[in-house]
Amino acid sequence: MDALVETIDLTRRFGDKVAVNNLCLKIRPGEIFGLLGPNGAGKTTTLRMLIGLLRPSEGSINIGGWNMEIDSEQCKRLIGYLPEEPSLYDYLTAQEFLEFMGKIKMVPDDLLRQRIGEYAELFDLTKRLRDYIGAFSRGMRQKVAIMAALINTPPVLLVDEPLMGLDPKSQKDFKDILHERAQDGAAVILSTHILDVAEKHCTRVGILNGGKLLVAGSMEELREFSVSAAGTSLEDVFLKLTEEAEAAKES
Ligand SMILES: Nc1ncnc2c1ncn2[C@@H]1O[C@H](COP(=O)(O)OP(=O)(O)O)[C@@H](O)[C@H]1O
Ligand SMILES: [Mg+2]
Repeated sequence: MDALVETIDLTRRFGDKVAVNNLCLKIRPGEIFGLLGPNGAGKTTTLRMLIGLLRPSEGSINIGGWNMEIDSEQCKRLIGYLPEEPSLYDYLTAQEFLEFMGKIKMVPDDLLRQRIGEYAELFDLTKRLRDYIGAFSRGMRQKVAIMAALINTPPVLLVDEPLMGLDPKSQKDFKDILHERAQDGAAVILSTHILDVAEKHCTRVGILNGGKLLVAGSMEELREFSVSAAGTSLEDVFLKLTEEAEAAKES
């Protein structure tokens, strides 16, 4: 199958600042693509354009073969999104919020209740489903946001720094879920600055810096690309490439 997510010359400016610069990406079913880069590289801006929350300044986006500009409804239906800073409703219980999200995403009632139950069990939230989200810890809120992103088992899953605030067991469970979704044929984009996670869990990674994609490929390809860092970790490749990019900017 062709790419589930495609960006063509995707660019976003904020005033004079180019946050995302001519980005061309293709993510296929079954891939977990790691979008890496230092703070301010343009990861979140890229994801916000991919879900149709921000309009590109230039370029285009295709999701599942639909064009975001023309068929935004069809595109959005295919996407599950975990924002960097999820906005939840403090005055709803977790159960109410998740039912609300599921209904928006048109998940049939029976399936919806079943999924909420299963994920709550997995994330150890069963006993808290009837509590107000406003009383939840950071990690519990993150779990609710993850459940909301997964509620309609979307074929495109965009997750922005998803491990923030999660305890080790939940991190592991979440990573397992990403693999399961990819095995089912979903395309996953994982934005992170935790290189170990990308190295271990992503089928391909792309390194963004200053809005530009410096390189994209499998770990193997990245090591080849960065010859003097050959045989070393993603961290070495990452640091070498981003330092080179900074040096090129200054000269
Ligand atoms: N709404 C906005 N208005 C102005 N500048 C923004 C806005 N959102 C992001 N930026 C800028 O765009 C750049 C990329 O930001 P972001 O995509 O959040 O990076 P990352 O997620 O990789 O840390 C940063 O310089 C940031 O300050
Ligand atoms: Mg970000």
